[in-house]
Amino acid sequence: MNDIEIAPSILSADFGYLMKDIKDIEPFCKFLHLDVMDGHYVPNLTIGVPVIKTIRKHTDMIFDCHLMITDPGKYIEPFAAAGCDYITFHIECSDDIEGLCNKIRALGKKAGIAIHPDTPIETIYPYLPYADLVLIMSVRPGFGGQSYMDGSTERISLVRAELDKIGSDAILSVDGGINMSTIKEAHDAGAKLLVAGSAVFGKEDQGKAVRDLIECALQ
Ligand code: DX5
Ligand code: ZN
Repeated sequence: MNDIEIAPSILSADFGYLMKDIKDIEPFCKFLHLDVMDGHYVPNLTIGVPVIKTIRKHTDMIFDCHLMITDPGKYIEPFAAAGCDYITFHIECSDDIEGLCNKIRALGKKAGIAIHPDTPIETIYPYLPYADLVLIMSVRPGFGGQSYMDGSTERISLVRAELDKIGSDAILSVDGGINMSTIKEAHDAGAKLLVAGSAVFGKEDQGKAVRDLIECALQ
């Protein structure tokens, strides 16, 4: 894991030319962020297992799957079988966080825990030892193209400090509203894996958009 990685979110890609969009950014990114929404936990529906299984055939990128679904425990196996590498579920959607992380790891995958911006940040502290990835949501999950919420940077710093305190090497990731105006503060606060949808896909040169974001964060 480099000090900084961009995980482009295909939510903002052109689904009619999905592999073309992925190939544009592939040389500059290790991770690909896959947003799965169920219309229950979030008021939107997106992609699921069949799409992930299909794109798995055409790229070796690390699949960073973000499950925005109620009852994630029911769907871990199919997402693992589809080729996801990191499987991240919402802390708000499970009452057995440790068990779910163990289940993901038992399938040979990395376990991620995501936290909604309205959930007090301390809620996640007891579960950090079980996480391979922690995803701080900096928008209310459900849609791309929203603005980075006030207070997100402080939430990143607090979790960064907790991870360092327990000696965890879990990846700290942030998702929502990451662009040329916000990436530096999120990275400086300790996020290493920065999810970006609308700041990458739909841009005239999508590869350059990734390179520009990295350069901006490291300035
Ligand atoms: C939102 C998703 C995000 C989304 C980010 O619920 O989890 O991954 O694609 O989009 P931007 O980068 O446009 O805020
Ligand atoms: Zn996401």
